[in-house]
Amino acid sequence: MKIKEIKAKNMNTKKFIEEKVQKIRQAVGEGLAINALSGGVDSCVVTALGHKALGNRLKTYFIDNGIMREGEPAKVKAAFKKMGIHVEVVDAVQDFFDSLKGITDPEEKREAITQTFYKKIFADLVMQSGAKYLLQGTILTDVDETVAGIKRQHNVFEQLGIDPQVAFGYKILEPLIQLRKDGVRKAGRGMGLPEAIFNRIPFPGPALAARVIGEVTPDKIAIVRKATAIVETELKGVKAFQYLAILHNDRVTGMRDNKRVFGNQIEIRCWNSLDARKASPTRLSFNVLEKMAAKITKAIPEVVSVTYNITTKPTSTIEAV
Ligand code: XMP
Repeated sequence: MKIKEIKAKNMNTKKFIEEKVQKIRQAVGEGLAINALSGGVDSCVVTALGHKALGNRLKTYFIDNGIMREGEPAKVKAAFKKMGIHVEVVDAVQDFFDSLKGITDPEEKREAITQTFYKKIFADLVMQSGAKYLLQGTILTDVDETVAGIKRQHNVFEQLGIDPQVAFGYKILEPLIQLRKDGVRKAGRGMGLPEAIFNRIPFPGPALAARVIGEVTPDKIAIVRKATAIVETELKGVKAFQYLAILHNDRVTGMRDNKRVFGNQIEIRCWNSLDARKASPTRLSFNVLEKMAAKITKAIPEVVSVTYNITTKPTSTIEAV
């Protein structure tokens, strides 16, 4: 079934929220639903929407998959506590690293993460909680990219002919599926979420695994996580759609203390975009770029080289994987 897009500029936010709240209530009835909060804009907005509809009958989990940004589980839990929403943190670090072991192909990595999330972690949580529904923040861009065969987004099933009830044993509700990122932000603002949440830069479902080229290991995630924290701190005030750090698979010759070292490379990307379908690199000042390179090579001994991506999407995509 073709999804009818709601463009942000045409969106009646109040009506949208009311309609989606009603739809969630109708679907779930007197039962329970669960949802996973990743800290990304879409999952934050869907969590708020779900709680507005179901109150305590929505159980919200943060799946600590080991591939999130620095301090993310505690930060997200605390931000939602302030809004009166309890978030349960689930430790699934080992499950995810086990599933990613030895995989280098980008689509296979995405598939491993999808299977671990939906078949293992959520299926267990659904069983334990007695819920029949999983509420999630899939948006139209996720569907487009998956259907077009660009990237298999971690959260798209129906449009690929996969029935979650059959594949995983529960139903999935996607109240944001008609929106793109700008519409999701409008809905977030309309529900009174703090600006720091609804205007947060996007972060992908496959998390930092989308930013490690080649096999994803705890060591590589630690490197890209530190670089991400530096990039996010340094570019915080910059007007951009999204900024990120990528860890390359190739190593290059560098030098430390006048000795040759064979080290890692970090690539910085900083995008202008409206809705992630097309993007162009922002013209960051050289001072800002040099400061980030210096901070990254100082804080991360394994990294000897830092580059900046100057390609548009297309041909690039926003994430590396
Ligand atoms: P790409 O890399 O495809 O990213 O140009 C477009 C936008 O989508 C985000 N992204 C994802 N979001 N699940 C998500 O929820 C995913 O699997 C996924 N992959 C990429 C990305 O961060 C960018 O904003």
